Amino acid sequence: ARFDVDWLAECSSTNTVLQERAAKGAASGSVLVADVQTAGRGRRGRSWLSSPDNSLTFSLLWRLPPAVRSAGLSLAVGLAVAQALESLGARGVGLKWPNDIWLLGQKLGGVLIEVAFDSNGLGLIIGIGLNLRHDAELETQLGHASAALSDEDLLLPREVVLGAVLRELASVLDRFGSEGFTALRAAWCARNALLGLPVRVSSESGEHLGNCGDVAADGALILHTAYGAHLLITGGDVSLAP
Ligand code: BTN
Repeated sequence: ARFDVDWLAECSSTNTVLQERAAKGAASGSVLVADVQTAGRGRRGRSWLSSPDNSLTFSLLWRLPPAVRSAGLSLAVGLAVAQALESLGARGVGLKWPNDIWLLGQKLGGVLIEVAFDSNGLGLIIGIGLNLRHDAELETQLGHASAALSDEDLLLPREVVLGAVLRELASVLDRFGSEGFTALRAAWCARNALLGLPVRVSSESGEHLGNCGDVAADGALILHTAYGAHLLITGGDVSLAP
C-alpha cells in the first residue's frame, strides 16, 4: 500500500477535512495528521479532546473494493491498531467492543469510522486518536484518568507510531477485503478487554446487563444475560457494570 501523508499544524477535525478531500477525489491511502484539532469528534456525537504535544490524531482514506461486505470492519480497524502498538512493544493492549483501544484497563485511544460516497465509490474515513503521553490538563478536562503509551515506558515519536499503525492497517484491511472478519475474529477475541466481566450495554434497543462474551463472525458482541439468553449486540456502547 502507498500512503500519502499530509501533516497540518491545526484543523477542525482530520475526519472532516479528509471527508472534503475524498469528495474531491483524494486517492485511497491519503492520510491527514493534525498537531491540533479544534473540533475533534468521537463516536456517537461526542467530542474528542486531545493534547497537541502528547497525542497522535489522524485519519486515513481507504477505498474499499466494491464487493467487500463491511460487517466487522470497525473491529478489524481496532485490531490493527492494537497489533501495531504490540509491534512497538506494548504488552497490555486490549480492545473494548467495538473499537476502543485499552491499555492496562484504561482507554488509550479511539477510532471513528465514517463513510464517504463519491464518484470513486465507497471510501472509508478511518480516524484514530491515541494518547502517547499523559497530559494533566487534558485529564482534568476529561474528568477521568486515561492510559498513555508512556505507561509502558514507550516514549515514541508520533511518526513512528503513525508508521506502525498504517502498516498494520494496510495488512489487516487487505486480509479483511479478501476473507472478511472471520479471518480476524480469533485475534480480536484474544484481546477482548471485557471478556467474562459484567457489563452494561446501551443500544437502540435499550439497556442490557450481562457478562461480556466473544464477538460473533459478523462482529456482533455476544452478551450473556442473567436469564440464560445470549443477546447479539450490533450497535451501542459497552461499559463495565458498577
Ligand atoms: C471515540 O473513541 O469516540 C473515537 C475517537 C476518534 C478520535 C479521532 S482523532 C482523529 C480523527 N478526527 C476526529 O475528529 N476524530 C478522530
